[in-house]
Parts: sequence; C-alpha cells; structure tokens
Amino acid sequence: MPSFFIDADISKAKTIDTDFYTQQKFFEAAKEKIFAPSWQFIGDAGRIKESGDAYPFILLENYLNEPLLLTKGKQQSIHCLSNVCTHRGNLVVYEPCKLNQLKCRYHGRLFGLDGKFISMPEFKEVQDFPTKEDDLHQLPLFTWGNLLFTSLDKQYKATDFLSEMIQRVEWFPVHDLQFRSELSRDYPVEANWALYCENYLEGFHIPFVHAGLNQVLDFGEYSTEVFRYSNLQLGIGKKGDVCFDLPSTSPDHGKEVAAYYFWVFPNMMFNFYPWGLSVNIVEPLEVSNCRVRFLTYVSDESKLAKGAGSGLDVVELEDEEVVQNVQKGIRSRFYKYGRYSVKREQGTHHFHSLIAEFMQ
Ligand code: FES
Ligand SMILES: [Fe+2]
Repeated sequence: MPSFFIDADISKAKTIDTDFYTQQKFFEAAKEKIFAPSWQFIGDAGRIKESGDAYPFILLENYLNEPLLLTKGKQQSIHCLSNVCTHRGNLVVYEPCKLNQLKCRYHGRLFGLDGKFISMPEFKEVQDFPTKEDDLHQLPLFTWGNLLFTSLDKQYKATDFLSEMIQRVEWFPVHDLQFRSELSRDYPVEANWALYCENYLEGFHIPFVHAGLNQVLDFGEYSTEVFRYSNLQLGIGKKGDVCFDLPSTSPDHGKEVAAYYFWVFPNMMFNFYPWGLSVNIVEPLEVSNCRVRFLTYVSDESKLAKGAGSGLDVVELEDEEVVQNVQKGIRSRFYKYGRYSVKREQGTHHFHSLIAEFMQ
C-alpha cells in the first residue's frame, strides 16, 4: 500500500493525496489504522442513570460496526463491555433495559453487570471452563463530567487525546451539561469523512462561506493552536457579542472568547459556547459518504441562541454544500493535491500529518 507523506514544514508541504478520499482500500485500511486505536465519544452517563441500567449500541455503525454495551453496576460503577456473548456470538442485550444480570437469550449464558461470567447450562463436562476468555470483553472507559469515551484497543491513553482540552476549559461546568435530543440531529453528507473534518479545521473559509457567523467572530483575531492529537481554534467575538466570563486562572483571561472549537483526532469536535457544548461526531459510512451527528448539551439555557453558538444549523448547511462540492472536485484527473496557507491552515496541515502518521 503506498504511504502518505506530509512535509512537517507547512510552508513546503503539499496536502494529502486525493486517493485518501476516493479509494476504497484506504477507506477500509483507516478502520484499523486510524479508528480502532483512537478514542471515541460514546454519549453521556444519562444513558445509564441507575444501577442495573444496560444500554447497547454499535460503535460507528456501518463502519467499525462494533457491538458494545454500557452498564451500571451495583456500586454505581460504569462498565463498557463487548455486547457479544462468548458462547456463539449472539448479542447479549438487544435494547436499553434494567437488569440484575446479563442473560444471553440464545442458550442462557449468564454474566454479571461487570461482564464477568457467572454460569452456563449444559457445560459440566467441558474442560478448562470457565476461563477469563468467557467473560465479556471489557473496554477502557474514560469519563469527563457526564461524557463517556472508549477505545477498541489499549494503544493510547484517553488523556493523550483529551488532556489539553480538559485543562484549557477546566472552569467549564461539564458536570451540569444536559443532553437535549430536540436540539440534536444527524446530517447525511455526501463526502468522505476526512473532507468534512478538514473543513472544520480552518476558519479560513468563514468570511467566504459563513456570512452570518462572520458577523459575530473577529476573523483577524481567530487563531489555531496545535497539540499532539488535538487542536484548538479560538473564536474571538466582536465587540458586544456574547462571550465567556473567564476566570483569572484561564490562560485566555482578558480575551473576548465567543467559542472554543476543539477538534480531537480523528473525527470528534467539541464546540464550547457560553450556553453549553455542541459535540460533532463525523461517522464514516462509505468512501464518499458520512454522517455528522450534532449532539447538543446545554449548561446555561439563558444564553441559547446567542453569539457564535447560535444558528448552527445554517452554518452546518453552508459547510455541507461546500464539502460535497469538494468531494466532486477531488475526483478530477487534474487535481492531486494543493498547498496550505501558513497563517490560516495549520489545523488542516496537522490533520493531514496525523493521517499520514497513522496510515503508515
Ligand atoms: S450464544 Fe450466548 S449462550 Fe449461546
Ligand atoms: Fe465552516
């Protein structure tokens, strides 16, 4: 498989080869090379409020397709487990429910809420049984406030990806966030998942694509900071706009911050506004199709629909249109790569560099 290369010097670098967005083999390879080792947002603890609650879900349905299960155990501990029975691979829990134990409906194998094997009918004669292999596979779980994250393998710690964000907004009321389904929605986008991400990764297009957003953000002050597996775009508000009231301990104290736009490799966006948090997850579906989930978490109702974090629907549709047109453009025989603005496209350069690193 050919490898991708991105020059570390943005002033010399060329963007990633368009094959990455158009070829099935790279779309497939990214499953194990990029997505399996990364950390993924899996919703909030409201899904499993009480002891005995079980919530089955598929991690990145239509892509990774990994059946997982969140449970709340007796001691209020949260577990993230494989939802696949260790006998013949049936799904253990079919829909959200409340249980004392997990009982597989196929042949009756019983597990605790922590995934530990308890019993199995008709298995008396089986040798070396049970072993640890008969427990449901336990995945690492990371919680930040009410927000939950997991990873399919143990290559990286969650903090490798998330700590810069958590530290930067440590004053943010993450424990008060309430999920609002009526303010959340999914958008189908006819473009490769990475094209959607890289559109998010530069504010360069804001004056051209988002007339409304451009009226509340001060484009001249807009900045990008690059970390190891994440980056931050700081949206500075224009005079008189709704901004954060930042504590003196914040490195941004004294600035008129209207929004923190954190992107976490490979496909997660955490947009902090004075009213709360908009989480965007880009889910790959096909090589030229993805689904973007906008999940809305409110902490201060009184600030909703004000400032940079209002009209997100309009901004999304404007982004969608341009990204879909780029997907059509990059199929061209005449376009293979482009160059980066040193001042305005550090985020895109960072993203491409990480893709090249993980696809090795
Ligand atoms: S598949 Fe679960 S008990 Fe057989
Ligand atoms: Fe945009």
